This record gives sequence, C-alpha cells and structure tokens, in this order.
Amino acid sequence: MGKSLLVLGAQWGDEGKGKITNYFSEKADVVIRYQGGNNAGHTIVFNNHKYALSSIPSGIFDENVKCVIANGVVLNPRAFIEERNQLIKQGFPCNNLYISDRCHVIFDHHIELDRLNEEGLKDKKIGTTKKGIGPCYSDKTERIGMRMCDFIGPNFKNRYKELLEIKNRQIRSLNGKEIDYETSVLEYEKLADLIRPMVTDTIALLNNERKSGKNILFEGAQGSLLDVDFGSYPYVTSSHVTSGGVICGTGIGCHGVDEVLGIVKAYQTRVGEGAFPTELLDEVGELIREKGHEYGTVTHRPRRTGYLDLVALRYSILVNGITSICLTLLDVLTGFEEVKVCVAYECGDKIIHTLPASDDVLKQCKPVYKTLKGWSIDISNVKTFDELPENAKEYIRFIENELEVPIDVFSVGPDKLQTIVRKEIF
Ligand code: GDP
Ligand code: IMO
Ligand code: MG
Repeated sequence: MGKSLLVLGAQWGDEGKGKITNYFSEKADVVIRYQGGNNAGHTIVFNNHKYALSSIPSGIFDENVKCVIANGVVLNPRAFIEERNQLIKQGFPCNNLYISDRCHVIFDHHIELDRLNEEGLKDKKIGTTKKGIGPCYSDKTERIGMRMCDFIGPNFKNRYKELLEIKNRQIRSLNGKEIDYETSVLEYEKLADLIRPMVTDTIALLNNERKSGKNILFEGAQGSLLDVDFGSYPYVTSSHVTSGGVICGTGIGCHGVDEVLGIVKAYQTRVGEGAFPTELLDEVGELIREKGHEYGTVTHRPRRTGYLDLVALRYSILVNGITSICLTLLDVLTGFEEVKVCVAYECGDKIIHTLPASDDVLKQCKPVYKTLKGWSIDISNVKTFDELPENAKEYIRFIENELEVPIDVFSVGPDKLQTIVRKEIF
C-alpha cells in the first residue's frame, strides 16, 4: 500500500491549498479533487510563473501524475475545457486528466438559477461565486441532475431536453433568462466529444492505484467552515468540504486516508456573507488585505480579514480528524507590533470555547484575545524553523500548544520554494 495524504482547508477557504497540494504533488502518483467545482480558485507559483486553477487538480504540471476529477465534484464542461486549453497554451499537455463518469455536470441553467436565487435572497444572500454550484448539487440530491456518463452518452440530447424544460420553467417563474435548447445542445455535444476520452471509472482507477502501492494526494477545495453540514449554515457552499467528503467523493473507502493536513492561514479571511467573529473592519484588517493580496481568485472580491480564530480551528480539527497543520501566509504578519489570536468567545454573559451551530449566535460572539509580540524581520527567505525570529517561533508554538496538533509545515511566500517542512508527512 502506498501513502495517502489529504490536504484540506481548515478555515473559510483560500488557505493556500493549491500551493501546498502542488508542493506535495512531487511525491504523489495521483492527485484528486473530490468536491466543489470551479467555485475554487487555487493559486500556484513556481519558476516565476503564477497559475490559477479552478477545476483541474494542482498536480497537473507534472505529466507523470494522474490528475483525477472524482465523483464528488461538479464539473462545468465549458469552464473545464477553457482551463485545460489555457494550460496547454502555457506548455502543459494535460494528457494526465481523468474525469469520473459519476460526477455531476454544471449547465448554464444552474448558473442562471444561482444568480436568480441570490437576487431573491436580497439582504440574506449567501454571496456565492455564481458558478452554479448550489443549483447543481441541489439537482443531484433532488435526483434530477445529469452525470458525466449521461452527458457523454448516446441519450444526452433527449435527457437534456427534458431537463431543460423543467429548468426553464423554474427560470421563467423567477423572471430569469431562459436557456435556448437548440444552441446550447450543440455546444454541449461538442464539449462532450472533447471530454469523452478523459471520462473513466475513477473509483476503480483510484483503488487500483492504491492497491499497487501508489501515493495518493487528495486536494480539498473551499474550507471546512464552508462545509454544508459543519459550516456556518446557511452561509456555506453545497458540498462536503470536510474529510468525510473524500469518502463519498471518491470511493476510496474509509481507510483510504493516512494523514489529514489542515491548511491554516496565519490569520483569518472570508469571502461572501456570514458571521466572522474576529473580523477586522479597521486599518489592521485593511493592512492584512493589502499585504496578503486578499482578493478573490474567482470573483476578485476583496476578502474580509481578521485575526486567527482558534475556537473555529479546534472545531475544524475535530470534525476533520486533522493530524498535522500547515501554517501559510506567515510572512504577511511580518511588521505588526503585536498579533492577536482568538482563544475563546464571549457570548452574552458566558465564555465559550466551542463553535455555536447558529450563525445568528455566532454573530453575537465577541473574540477573547491573547496578544502576542510581533516581529519585523523579513521571513520570506527562511529555510528552517530555527531561522525564524523568536516572536514568529513563539506564534507557531503558541498555536500548536493551543490546538494540540503539530505545525509540521509552514509557508512564507507564494512560491513553491517558500515552503518549510519541519517533519516529513508524505
Ligand atoms: P487556495 O484556494 O486555498 O488554493 O488559496 P488561494 O490560491 O485562493 O489563496 C492563497 C493566496 O495566497 C494565493 O495568492 C497564493 O499564491 C498565496 N500564498 C500561498 N501561500 C502563501 C504564503 O505563505 N505567503 C504569501 N505571501 N502568499 C501565499
Ligand atoms: P477555494 O477552493 C473561499 C464561498 C463563497 C460563498 C460560499 C458559497 O479557492 O478555497 P458557492 O459559489 O460555493 O455556492 O458559494 O462559499 N466559497 C469560497 N470562499 N474560497 C473558495 O474556494 C470558495 N468557494 C466558495 O464566497 O461565501
Ligand atoms: Mg482560493
């Protein structure tokens, strides 16, 4: 049996999963996306080039790595082909892509419904990426979705026609823009022809690879606090972001994951609506946003910023079974005189250490902070933990002690080389 590592976001997304997955993909034979879709924006930097991936796994740059889009993912065929074409243009042949015959397809009607649903929610809107993710997963659970095997199959035209009639009725009732069958079916047929050679039984592929001793790397999208079950509902995405998502999103079985690496940004960010107890609406928050270039990769929205929230992180560790942490964007905190870390919430007249289920209650929670000393020396070139200034070391030690999970990896810049492994985990 080879090794397997799950890389997942422990906060509200954009923790640097793409960078870290890409870093570990050197040791992987297979890299797999298991949930979400092109709502994800994973940035990878190496050899002075920056790449942004949305649907394609972050191992794609190495031809020897099999990159799998597994059954738990929702795939927009047009966006996928555009992303692949872009990579081919950049010199990566992309002959190493495998798409599950069971993953669900995102169509234009899903995108239109995402837009209309958001508009309808008015001031209660989720703040989605408007990529059709929610409507596609809804169709899946309503059992009216279209899977890849049917998208590339001989009955596609009929099935799509039936489906579109239902969906256009929905769109009409919301005064939206209906999708034209004749033009869209032609485009989808062309896309299906392009995609068909990549479609396979990824459950068999994956289990065979694992049995034959290959190393498997699972790449999470979004963050645990956006999980449809465990996240700050209703301000969440529609997929199983947490580690359970790997099992239902790939078919690897419940013994398929050896290590769970939680990617933790050294502070906290969030895009979209919902409670955010440590949010900073002042110049410190603004400074973090500017230093960390905290603008969405997919929607270019400014990300909300705040101090690290250990209450939320403890919860994340629990629900995922996180065995190891990678602390990213530590360099962004350089230059602050002091850095605060939230260790508990003040909720009414109580001090609590767990995350409340209700977003309304979470909105009322005030962070209880521990203040640590900052550091001013540039850390973006350090190669070992020992080279860090004492206060940065103390920041890491403090988080480890509070969370009782080792920070085995940390990151001090966007480049692949700016990654420091303290203990080998894969
Ligand atoms: P993902 O969605 O989890 O893959 O994260 P994103 O790519 O959306 O956002 C992370 C951003 O931080 C990207 O622009 C990365 O290039 C960048 N990044 C990753 N790690 C570091 C780091 O340690 N320091 C700095 N300064 N930037 C980083
Ligand atoms: P990566 O993989 C950050 C957020 C949206 C919104 C909510 C629901 O790059 O970390 P959706 O379009 O999924 O229905 O939106 O989830 N969201 C993300 N936030 N990073 C992401 O992905 C996200 N994907 C979705 O902003 O609040
Ligand atoms: Mg992102």
